[in-house]
Amino acid sequence: MKLDQASIENAVKTAYADHKDDTGGENASYIPYLASVDPALFGVCVMTADGQLFEMGDTGFEFALESISKVFSMAWAMEKVGLETFQQKVGADPTGEPFNSVISVALHGDAPVSPLVNAGAMSTVSLIPGDTAEDRWEAILQVQSAFAGRKIRLSDEVNESEQSTNFHNRAIAWLLYSGGTMYSDPMEACDVYTRQCSTLVTARDLAAMGATIANRGVNPLTGDRVVQAAHVPAMLAEMTMEGLYTASGDWAYQVGLPGKSGVGGGILAVMPGKLAIAGFAPPLDPAGNSVKAQHAVAQVARSLGLSIY
Ligand code: DON
Repeated sequence: MKLDQASIENAVKTAYADHKDDTGGENASYIPYLASVDPALFGVCVMTADGQLFEMGDTGFEFALESISKVFSMAWAMEKVGLETFQQKVGADPTGEPFNSVISVALHGDAPVSPLVNAGAMSTVSLIPGDTAEDRWEAILQVQSAFAGRKIRLSDEVNESEQSTNFHNRAIAWLLYSGGTMYSDPMEACDVYTRQCSTLVTARDLAAMGATIANRGVNPLTGDRVVQAAHVPAMLAEMTMEGLYTASGDWAYQVGLPGKSGVGGGILAVMPGKLAIAGFAPPLDPAGNSVKAQHAVAQVARSLGLSIY
């Protein structure tokens, strides 16, 4: 492992230069807002577990957090209901199916399998304590902000775009309800889940969120403990198994770091105890993972000799 400042700086610069002109992939089109984001945007950065930042490209551009939000809601639900209850209610296995799979829910008795796919993520939201959807939403927004070390906000534009097209997720929410694995009103859980995907982050924010995981639950920028250290291994394990959906196994073989992607084009990888690598580029592969950002993050990891295996 070469983790001195010069090596990290060089790894980020080289990965950016090597992948800046990569082609392939398409912006997500099933959410109209995402289809309209400039596909040429590209940023890569690293934040160390002690808060040093290295960055190249469009690392200050705000994009939709999307599925990466699932990691932080998972963290908060575990914090509130405890690891064992959380695992028993939401599951902890790879689905082997796309992120919005109905089949994986149906195959498991209308129960979720993983908190990092849509079904488990909505069940996760429903487990967060609160009398109303607003209570749960405020808790999620606060936890995203605590991981990022700055106030994260909802994009009304992204949210409206998602809420007006999220019929598939509503069907999954009702399916879970019929199986007794929704712990609040299912349409409220789907609404709050959709909002948690519609917040805006930069690649820098993503790196800070990852650095907080790398730093075992303490945000290195604010010094605040966000979640207990005992829950971080479960987050990392889940990211390894399901973070890049049907490409999670390939990612584990080739990169060897827990990761998480979102259809907004963001991707995050964490080297526990050391650092986080974040990338952003909107065009996605068929599994829903950013093409360019995947390549760049993988290259940074390889050139620094990072792998948990
Ligand atoms: O539920 C959805 O379809 C989106 N709001 C988020 C999906 C997502 O980011 C999947 N990730 N690659």
